[in-house]
Amino acid sequence: MKQLFSPRADRLLRGFGIIGAAALVLAATVGFALSRSDGTWGVGTPAAQPIPFSHAIHAGQIGLDCRYCHAGVEQAADAGMPTAETCLGCHSQVWNVSAQFAPLQTALALGRPVTWSSVHRLPEHVRFQHAAHIGAGVTCAQCHGPVETMARTVKTETQSMGWCLDCHREATPQSASLVAASHAQFGVEVPPLANCSTCHR
Ligand code: HEC
Ligand code: HEC
Ligand code: HEC
Ligand code: HEC
Ligand code: HEC
Repeated sequence: MKQLFSPRADRLLRGFGIIGAAALVLAATVGFALSRSDGTWGVGTPAAQPIPFSHAIHAGQIGLDCRYCHAGVEQAADAGMPTAETCLGCHSQVWNVSAQFAPLQTALALGRPVTWSSVHRLPEHVRFQHAAHIGAGVTCAQCHGPVETMARTVKTETQSMGWCLDCHREATPQSASLVAASHAQFGVEVPPLANCSTCHR
């Protein structure tokens, strides 16, 4: 083939080509890393709360059991949140003198739950079940980290689909209905807990 460019221009163009390709790879890598980084998933970021509640004091120092305030966790899909009455069992002496307990009074007066913000909320299209996990021996700390040391509650895991699947590919289901639900997906045998329909309906 006839040479179109001088050898020098050819080397230069190749050089740019390599730099361009390298830049693309770099951009893609940074983009991927960012989209997967903890910040994007809100890991480590506390939410604004109506009352500055501390697990470090209540579950750590005082040593209250998680179920004292999250009573549904062994029987239901939702762990459940403490009501104003749960807090006032201990704080009824203090709450009149301390403005920080006013949201409890408001909740009681309106007969509404305290408006705790969530750092763990999954999208609507995902199904999650606390009871099944606790029943299978998964601990709170495996998914929520050392909550009893937290002055402000934060997420320690991304709770992305990839995170759920990392455990679901290895785990063996206990309940008969889950074992029975095991089937081939797109013609490929998948571990029962990794079926799309386990988490998406
Ligand atoms: C079993 C008793 C008990 C229950 C139930 C309880 N607390 Fe406490 N709480 C305490 C004690 C004890 C302290 C520590 C007081 C101190 O050291 O000044 C405390 C401290 C606090 C403080 C002050 C924290 C700080 O940084 O100084 C807040 C706010 C608080 N509790 C909110 C709540 C809320 C909200 C609930 C309900 C979800 C609740 N507590 C349930 C016993 C309890
Ligand atoms: C005295 C009551 C109390 C006890 C005991 C308690 N919690 Fe909580 N928990 C709360 C309150 C109030 C909130 C909401 C405010 C916050 O996030 O800090 C909360 C929030 C949480 C959240 C975040 C919920 C969300 O929607 O993102 C997790 C996870 C959690 N608790 C786990 C635990 C674990 C694990 C234990 C035991 C080691 C425990 N809690 C013990 C009162 C309690
Ligand atoms: C297999 C992982 C896993 C385990 C084990 C687990 N959680 Fe959760 N937890 C989650 C996920 C995921 C959410 C968000 C659920 C949603 O948005 O539907 C959540 C939400 C919560 C909430 C928010 C409100 C609610 O009602 O669900 C609390 C409180 C909570 N967990 C407490 C606990 C406690 C206490 C334990 C241990 C007894 C525990 N969790 C064990 C993954 C887990
Ligand atoms: C550390 C391991 C682990 C993690 C992380 C985990 N799971 Fe599971 N999950 C299990 C095990 C084990 C079972 C089987 C429970 C049984 O046999 O009853 C299960 C069962 C389930 C079930 C079926 C419940 C039923 O009774 O139908 C759903 C839904 C589910 N997980 C959703 C999720 C979602 C969504 C996430 C991520 C947000 C997640 N899981 C993270 C271990 C895990
Ligand atoms: C163990 C639970 C689990 C299984 C099994 C699972 N997913 Fe998901 N999926 C999730 C969670 C949690 C999210 C939300 C967090 C996220 O976007 O990563 C999600 C999100 C998604 C989304 C939305 C992504 C987005 O960007 O909003 C799609 C689409 C999806 N899943 C498809 C699938 C398909 C297809 C399968 C089967 C091959 C599957 N999922 C299996 C837990 C699961």
